[in-house]
Amino acid sequence: MAIIEMKDVRKTFRTPQGTTVTAVDGVSFGVERGETLGIIGESGSGKSTLGRLILRLNEADSGSIFLEGEDIRALSKAQLRKRRRRWQIVFQEPFASLNPRLTIRQIVEEPLVVSKTYGSRTERLQRVIETLNEVGLSEEFLNRRPANLSGGQQQRVGIARCLVTDPTLVVLDEPTSSLDLTIRASILRMLAKLQVARDLTYVFISHDIETVRHFCSRVAVMHHGQFVETGTTHEVLSNPQQPYTQALMAAALPPVPYSPEAKAATA
Ligand SMILES: Nc1ncnc2c1ncn2[C@@H]1O[C@H](COP(=O)(O)OP(=O)(O)O)[C@@H](O)[C@H]1O
Ligand SMILES: [Mg+2]
Repeated sequence: MAIIEMKDVRKTFRTPQGTTVTAVDGVSFGVERGETLGIIGESGSGKSTLGRLILRLNEADSGSIFLEGEDIRALSKAQLRKRRRRWQIVFQEPFASLNPRLTIRQIVEEPLVVSKTYGSRTERLQRVIETLNEVGLSEEFLNRRPANLSGGQQQRVGIARCLVTDPTLVVLDEPTSSLDLTIRASILRMLAKLQVARDLTYVFISHDIETVRHFCSRVAVMHHGQFVETGTTHEVLSNPQQPYTQALMAAALPPVPYSPEAKAATA
């Protein structure tokens, strides 16, 4: 069964100036269990809005969205709250997405309390500790607060918070974009390991083509709210068919290393 089935989903916003922005403009796609779908595109192309629509954190204007066979646009608020634990999101800015007044223990425990997943206090604490360990944080972090953590540690807490309820689907909205390169690589490795260990399905939003190349099995290229090209990562990134994808990749080319031949050729 597909984890995500979306058909012709649209979302517009009213701007304060009174104009209308079409953030997502008729997007259709499916994601199978255990896959990682990468969504790439420039800033403003509608990636985050799409990620939020998948989890009904934004309400779509039209179209259909099925998660694990359920029509999520038709769920009541109460039903949706119950399902939330299975469908999670990790945000780009870990610090902004963690409540600064709470301890790490409270932050990671909260989804368990809200979804009434684990009954007793002891069981919940045990679960919080296990999950922190899984993301590479020891018990020493339990009573600390987000401001006392590094960016990488904050993002590990964000990931623990999302994993603690045992989700099937995780939307990762530029989860490593705000982090240093070396930390970025270790978080990506950890996410890849967790995916296998927990049989997770990922939607991985990024504007970084190299990250997507290493991390995703399939890719969708988003431009002005539409998918302009989709396929396996290899197909799309090795042999892009659409001019927009070609331009996006050309703009992202790493600087050419200095070589005397290349210099002579362009002189
Ligand atoms: N809550 C909102 N209100 C008004 N406009 C929004 C809102 N969220 C997103 N938009 C607009 O929708 C478009 C897509 O934004 P977004 O989904 O954040 O793109 P991306 O994540 O690719 O940078 C942009 O033009 C953005 O300004
Ligand atoms: Mg975004």
